[in-house]
Amino acid sequence: MKTIIEPFRIKSVEPLTMTTEEDRKELLKKASYNLFLLPSKDVMIDLLTDSGTGAMSSEQWAAMMRGDESYAGSPSWFRFLAVMNDLLGYSHILPTHQGRASERILFSCMLKPNDLVPSNTHFDTTRANIEASGAEAVDLVIKEGTDPMCIHPFKGNMDLQRLRNCIVDGQKSGRRVPMIMVTVTNNSGGGQPVSMENILGIHKISREFGIPFFIDACRFAENAWFIKEREAGYQHKTPKEIAKEMFSLADGCTISAKKDGMVNIGGVLAMNDDVLAQEVQNSLILTEGFLTYGGLAGRDLDAMAVGFEEVLQEDYLRYRIASTGFVANHLHQKGIPVMMPPGGHAVYLDARKFLPHIPLEQYPGQALACAIYLKGGIRTCEIGTVMFGAAAKMDLVRLAIPRRTYTQSQMEYVIEAIEEVFQERQSIRGVRIEWQPKALRHFTAKFAPVS
Ligand code: F0G
Repeated sequence: MKTIIEPFRIKSVEPLTMTTEEDRKELLKKASYNLFLLPSKDVMIDLLTDSGTGAMSSEQWAAMMRGDESYAGSPSWFRFLAVMNDLLGYSHILPTHQGRASERILFSCMLKPNDLVPSNTHFDTTRANIEASGAEAVDLVIKEGTDPMCIHPFKGNMDLQRLRNCIVDGQKSGRRVPMIMVTVTNNSGGGQPVSMENILGIHKISREFGIPFFIDACRFAENAWFIKEREAGYQHKTPKEIAKEMFSLADGCTISAKKDGMVNIGGVLAMNDDVLAQEVQNSLILTEGFLTYGGLAGRDLDAMAVGFEEVLQEDYLRYRIASTGFVANHLHQKGIPVMMPPGGHAVYLDARKFLPHIPLEQYPGQALACAIYLKGGIRTCEIGTVMFGAAAKMDLVRLAIPRRTYTQSQMEYVIEAIEEVFQERQSIRGVRIEWQPKALRHFTAKFAPVS
């Protein structure tokens, strides 16, 4: 049989509130044409993010009942530690409440003003936390990674020559490069994978220059699956063996467990360096909590211990990557401008190509996200001029797919809605900003349609 099916059945369901286009016209107006301001009950299919929005398994819920809420040294902590030790292999493993807490703690201990921190592409919170330390975040993804239509098996790869130049030029001008990072998969670059060969290349450069290498490993399991499918020599390895090999090439990692940890809240910070670990532990206790719970409940640690194992099951990963590809490939076949090849956790529409009649000052990505909500009650996220201002290189609309949450017929509905929006695209108008805050405007800005 060729059909790939959901490798689970549904035990508990949440009803969707069904709305009509008429209802949504009013709801959108009330939310000032900003989808972040919609109550989620007014959304039928929520593709705003894949972070913390997935479904937990019956085994995870069972594990939560075993959760032990002791302040220090709880059995939940030891179960979490055993799983993470086996997977990551780093000497120091710390729980945090989510990815950006790991980032903030790590950067506040490692970075000084004027430092350079290269990566393939830093995610927004990573970049913001680096900048909060006074350092500069440098994106060095290969050139294929910035072209939405370019077909390449590992569009998330880092350009190793530019990495070397960044370090050498930095040294010449007296700027430190205290760490190298790589994001797997490359979220801001379309959820595109990074090859093992590239990770090995980064490892070698980090050794040559004596610079620590950290992985932003939010979607490590999806990255491992792409390596298994696309990189020579990995077809017969398990996703877990591949993930362990990735982690073995770095000196530590930050993880938001809200993605491939398959939980609603949680994070991890891990490293080998004993001296750094001392400093990081002090910061963790100061701001997150004691070393054996890090700002989480014991039950959250138990849910993570199960989630980090379940995510590496082959049946799950085969389904996961196929279901994202299902949406992207269907849209692509209909001539709809979608980033190709499909990434792991999300499908990205190219709004500049979708709505060429809308100038950038009228936010084509925001206009498209609103049109998709109006058509089908589907919430997506603009990643473009609203989010980054005039610096935006692309105007994308991200459809992030929560894990194990929506059925294939719901995704067929999403495809149909976008096809209809595409047919009616000439009638879509741009939007203008009526009010905006000083920073991070995409969350709270108020828009109105251009008349
Ligand atoms: N790194 C990457 C690559 C991410 O995608 C995220 C979050 C973080 C770090 C921060 O983790 O949210 O747990 O603090 N990405 C979410 C998204 C928010 O929608 O892509 P966090």
